[in-house]
Amino acid sequence: MRLSRPLAALFITFSIPAAYAWGAAGHEIIATIAQMYLHPSILPTICDILNFSEDETQPEQPCHLAPISTWADKLRFKMRWSAALHYVGSLDDHPSQTCLFPGERGWAGTRGGNVLDAIKNVTGLLEDWTRGEAGDATANEALKFLVHFMGDLHMPLHLTGRDRGGNSDRVLWSGRQTNLHSLWDGLLIAKAIRTVPRNYSRPLPYPDVEHALRGTIYDSYIRRIMWEGVFQKWKDDVPEWFSCPETTPPPPARGWQQVVMSLKRLAGKQGVEIGPDTDVLCPYHWAKPIHALNCDIVWPKELDEPPYGGGGSKFADEDVAGRPPKPHPPLLELDTPKYAGVIEDTMVVEKLLAQGGIRLAGILNYLFLEEAARS
Ligand SMILES: *[C@@H]1O[C@H](CO)[C@@H](O)[C@H](O)[C@H]1NC(C)=O
Ligand SMILES: *[C@@H]1O[C@H](CO)[C@@H](O)[C@H](O)[C@H]1NC(C)=O
Ligand SMILES: *[C@@H]1O[C@H](CO)[C@@H](O)[C@H](O)[C@H]1NC(C)=O
Repeated sequence: MRLSRPLAALFITFSIPAAYAWGAAGHEIIATIAQMYLHPSILPTICDILNFSEDETQPEQPCHLAPISTWADKLRFKMRWSAALHYVGSLDDHPSQTCLFPGERGWAGTRGGNVLDAIKNVTGLLEDWTRGEAGDATANEALKFLVHFMGDLHMPLHLTGRDRGGNSDRVLWSGRQTNLHSLWDGLLIAKAIRTVPRNYSRPLPYPDVEHALRGTIYDSYIRRIMWEGVFQKWKDDVPEWFSCPETTPPPPARGWQQVVMSLKRLAGKQGVEIGPDTDVLCPYHWAKPIHALNCDIVWPKELDEPPYGGGGSKFADEDVAGRPPKPHPPLLELDTPKYAGVIEDTMVVEKLLAQGGIRLAGILNYLFLEEAARS
């Protein structure tokens, strides 16, 4: 096994909070799967773009997407304007009971400041670059953002407006306190990596798969996703994953909804609109079924039922004058057959990682194949 620097980096991150470290694994896995599907003739273009900057974010493997896939997360603390670009939420969305995408009042946040529009924006910038209308530095940042945002789009909790995407919902995972968002960003993937059958430590008879692997702790997991998922379970669905509907679907929050919105405008907080999908780039079409997973499988119903919720337990910490603070409500354990077991059996996390990777590769091939033919 090749011991590359990314492997060493992962071991170091074990000492920092799991949510952040494993969030990185999810993005790197998606980027690695994308790498397998890149048309060989576009690799020099990817190399060029990623090798442009001379700063410390310079990837040591300039033609691989995984090392740059988490750049945008490191940036969000430095460049706060970019933080909102990692997610989207509609007003009134409230899984597990109600999954609205968008809600009648539209989307939360500011216009253009969401992951769906961000994907369209950075793809547009890369398209400009292929026409010589954007500089190399712009293309470098846009590509790093695109790789990351396609990952965020495939994390269901990045698509819900409730509780900051589950960040404020405390739960237990194998007895340890975490929150629903961290569980999906990292802990489920961590467990999946830990429990991959041993036979996946051997190379698969697929050079494209093996060539994209980098000697990381998740190589076996990626082999399993490809072997059991992409090449078997979802084999017939894969061609649909990176296609968009023939006719552009009606843009969200338009038409009759706009009438409702204008009627409601006086009544309360209003949301923003999101730009329409196109027939080659359709983040809304891709995201809609991913968002629906929040009601189907992601958001545990128990969180809204006693004793975990629904009984005002949110305010348990408040010390109403004169009264002793109420005891903390019990936290819901999610590493159970009923919750994690169903997620594992349906391979829903693995499917999201594969979809993210294959769609990302589709966008990059679309963007750069002509460019490659020209040069
Ligand atoms: C990347 O940049 C380094 C120097 O910074 C250079 O040696 C190397 O050839 C470049 N690689 C590519 C693929 O352009
Ligand atoms: C992307 O967003 C920036 C900043 O909001 C804007 O200036 C630019 O025109 C957008 N580009 C495309 C191609 O959408
Ligand atoms: C690995 O083992 C599992 C059973 O645990 C089997 O379903 C799978 O096909 C095997 N994978 C390979 C690549 O042989």
